[in-house]
Amino acid sequence: MKQFITVKDVKDIDALIRQGREYKANRLKDEALGRGKRIGLMFFNPSMRTRLSTQIAAKNLGLDPIVLNAGTEGWALEFQDGAVMNGTTVEHIRDAAPILGSYFDVLCVRTFPKLASREEDESDHVIRAFIRHAGIPVISLESATCHPLQSLADLITITEHFQESRKPKIVLTWAPHIKPIPHCVANSFTEWMLAWGKADFVVTAPKGYELSPTFAGDATFTDRQNEALEGADFVYVKNWSSVSEYGKVLGQHPEWMLTEKHLSRAPKAKVMHCLPLRRNVELSDEILDGPRSLLTPLATNRVWSAQSVISEILRNR
Ligand code: CP
Repeated sequence: MKQFITVKDVKDIDALIRQGREYKANRLKDEALGRGKRIGLMFFNPSMRTRLSTQIAAKNLGLDPIVLNAGTEGWALEFQDGAVMNGTTVEHIRDAAPILGSYFDVLCVRTFPKLASREEDESDHVIRAFIRHAGIPVISLESATCHPLQSLADLITITEHFQESRKPKIVLTWAPHIKPIPHCVANSFTEWMLAWGKADFVVTAPKGYELSPTFAGDATFTDRQNEALEGADFVYVKNWSSVSEYGKVLGQHPEWMLTEKHLSRAPKAKVMHCLPLRRNVELSDEILDGPRSLLTPLATNRVWSAQSVISEILRNR
């Protein structure tokens, strides 16, 4: 694996999950793999889990992680080729990225979508510019379209908590939010579910919140949340803004917030969310503080997801 931006970069999802679970059992088993190497983490947007879990994973592999809060402390970067830089941008990606490539062995980047233009966001031009110009492997810490380290942690968590021989039923359900939220986690979760292919998978959201076909492909979609939730083993809760009316909040739909009542026909359902979340807007206290919640184990598994990916990159660079 030379880069980790989407599930398409992964040859064997099950092997990556297995490796993550092996690191969970023995976190230092490959501590010599990254010895003497540096990994750079560039954050153009805020983060808690991704920032800390990736640093911990890197240290477990013997790497030296260095973080730059590029969004607040770095120079404003220009990404357009041929730009006459007489505006607000200070440094071109063509100049900055090769320098990062000389400082580090692996580069990680977090860059959110602007939610102004679907075409621009789906081009994922910022992280792809780093890939083009840095000359070293690039790992997405969440880009304009996807959050693959999150999705791998999601799958590590699901496989840990499901021991039956049948396929699990997994539901991605839209949740209310007060402001426009990127599609990355939902896109990515859907893409990984389809590529993994070992679940009975359904996406449910109010009309107008259908995901982009670029990521959702032929995933089953319904706007009937109650029907979708019936018999679910895992319910992944996430808000996203509209794709058809790009980046807009079309309606609050408070009735879509998941409560115990919604799960009356899914007695075994475990509940997941990537975090951060707004309590009693996206998810109810009763679920978050009850036995169904997998939120803390899921966030903990972010370490093993990152460790599995970084080790794969180090072995194949
Ligand atoms: N789930 C997730 O990516 O969390 P952070 O934004 O805190 O990194």
